[in-house]
Amino acid sequence: MKILIINGPNLNLLGKREPTIYGDNSFEDYYKKLEAEFSNVDFEYYQSNVEGELINKLHEVGFIYDGIIMNAGAYTHTSVGIGDAIAGIETPVIEVHISNVYAREEFRHQSLMAKNCVGVITGLGLNSYRLAILHFLSIKK
Ligand code: DQA
Repeated sequence: MKILIINGPNLNLLGKREPTIYGDNSFEDYYKKLEAEFSNVDFEYYQSNVEGELINKLHEVGFIYDGIIMNAGAYTHTSVGIGDAIAGIETPVIEVHISNVYAREEFRHQSLMAKNCVGVITGLGLNSYRLAILHFLSIKK
């Protein structure tokens, strides 16, 4: 099973960025734990702060991989292009967020990608990613 985890803008700063909201773990450390826990999964991790690069990555793997877990950060709320890219590929995408976007500013309540995703997990900290992996494993034929 091949799963790509994509993090969008500012998520490279996890651990340093607003730790009261996003926690004090870096994503790289958490990713190592995921790889150890799910040794049966072939993972790839990609992070970019650039909208077009995120779209290119969706196109690159979106007809090959079994699942994509995507935290598009602020682009979740603004990017028609990312929403369209998810609609255009075959690989199912789960939208994840570390914080509970519905408990925050109103502009974070809108997602332009959610309707093209198989599901959304928000507010469970880094565990949001882990639960998305469990979903893909549970539906694997
Ligand atoms: C986020 C929530 C977004 O609103 C925000 O812009 C982020 C992180 C989250 O994981 O909680 O960058 O996607």
